[in-house]
Amino acid sequence: MTRLPLTLRPATPSEYGAILRLIDDAVSWLPGKGTDQWAQPWPDQQRRDARILDDLVDGKTWLAVDGTAVAATITVDFADSGVWPTDKRRERAVYVRRVIVDRRYAGLEVGARLLDWASHLAVRVHRARWIRVDVWTTNDGLHEYYRTQGFEGAGLRDLADEPGYPSRALFQRSTALWRPDYRPVLRPFPPPGPWPRPCANGRALPTAGESFRPEQRPEPQ
Ligand SMILES: CC(C)(COP(=O)(O)OP(=O)(O)OC[C@H]1O[C@@H](n2cnc3c(N)ncnc32)[C@H](O)[C@@H]1OP(=O)(O)O)[C@@H](O)C(=O)NCCC(=O)NCCS
Repeated sequence: MTRLPLTLRPATPSEYGAILRLIDDAVSWLPGKGTDQWAQPWPDQQRRDARILDDLVDGKTWLAVDGTAVAATITVDFADSGVWPTDKRRERAVYVRRVIVDRRYAGLEVGARLLDWASHLAVRVHRARWIRVDVWTTNDGLHEYYRTQGFEGAGLRDLADEPGYPSRALFQRSTALWRPDYRPVLRPFPPPGPWPRPCANGRALPTAGESFRPEQRPEPQ
């Protein structure tokens, strides 16, 4: 039985397997949506897995958990990873990726609420104006999903140094549009102790863009 709200907390590097399982599960049902999204890891499995681990070590990846069950994940970054055009990167924005909801929690708008929470966090700690995502280029169904969530298309990006990059469809939404009603679905729970939290490799959380300052630490809701 699903218990809401889910607890939303930073993922640890030891939960790497849980992230891979969410991806693998999505890869198994996405063909039924008529898309080849994520069918082949980009640019290959080794480098995709390294990106996932880097995000975990850097404290950018969050898990929504239902007791001990992993229900969803989102990765939140205050710096673009080289996908958005230079002029856009100058704007204060939060970049999300790997937003995945386990199918047992489909239909509860967990993903939508994760996007709201990320907007809220971004405004509070980064004064971000935009929440941004780069979306599988050919997946019209997913483009529609983001439009339904209030995102607007921001063009198709050609990456000279990464030809064939499969998520070239850029979408953004004003952070002013976040809905405060994510709390019945998600209960953010930052870890106790100093903030930013030192990570295994000695880097602080987050490493990219603006740092959290102690006074900006998101309080438990
Ligand atoms: C996108 C996602 C996070 C949204 O979560 P949510 O807000 O809780 O919404 P749901 O999971 O209930 O999905 C909403 C609808 O979008 C559809 N949808 C979700 N991801 C889709 C995708 N990648 N391609 C096509 N359709 C998709 C769902 O099938 C569902 O359609 P339905 O209402 O006809 O059943 C979640 O569906 C998911 O994990 N998708 C797969 C991974 C993914 O594509 N993530 C986005 C990466 S940019």
